[in-house]
Amino acid sequence: MIIAIDGPAASGKGTLARRLADHYGLRHLDTGLTYRAVAAALLARGLPLGDEAVAVATARNLDLSRLDRDVLSAHEIGEAASRIAVLPGLREELVRAQRRFAQEPPGAVLDGRDIGTVVCPDADVKLYVVASAAERARRRTQELVSKGQDAEYARVLADLERRDQRDAGRAVAPLKPADDADLLDTSEMDIETAFKAAVDIVDSVHAR
Ligand code: DC
Repeated sequence: MIIAIDGPAASGKGTLARRLADHYGLRHLDTGLTYRAVAAALLARGLPLGDEAVAVATARNLDLSRLDRDVLSAHEIGEAASRIAVLPGLREELVRAQRRFAQEPPGAVLDGRDIGTVVCPDADVKLYVVASAAERARRRTQELVSKGQDAEYARVLADLERRDQRDAGRAVAPLKPADDADLLDTSEMDIETAFKAAVDIVDSVHAR
């Protein structure tokens, strides 16, 4: 079974993907981390973010089993990831690796922006997770503060909206729901409620 989960930043898709993978005994790949890992490697070496050949070469050396969200969570890395994600050659390279991961038994949950549309268009279940920008900014601010980082709601909201625009507005594999995706709006849900709603969708789609 392959479950594709897409949605904007801080919609709750990552937490849902992890919990669904646990629940169904599947492997999990947060594809945002693949873009973040390439971005972090470029930043660390002082390499340009707009050079496709350099980005592709960096992606080829990526080990998908060693991606660590804690190491890659910095705000600057997320920004840089969103900027390099417009490079078509880089996307091709990362999508190839993501598909390989998805196809290994016993199946997987992948979360990102283009899983249901590009990476796994034949996924058994496709979820598109959304929440209002205000609610996503509230959650992200709380998360940063709980990690002892400086976070101001207005700035977090502005950053999220800018990133949404870039991710949804790019020419290649923009953020958008697949035609056959089930929409899950988590604006008014806590994580437990959202998880139960997601399991209901997966079980009902899988039974069809
Ligand atoms: O989900 P995230 O914040 O870790 O993702 C970081 C950036 O990577 C995001 O702004 C856009 C890009 N990305 C993408 O283009 N396609 C994906 N499947 C996942 C992430």
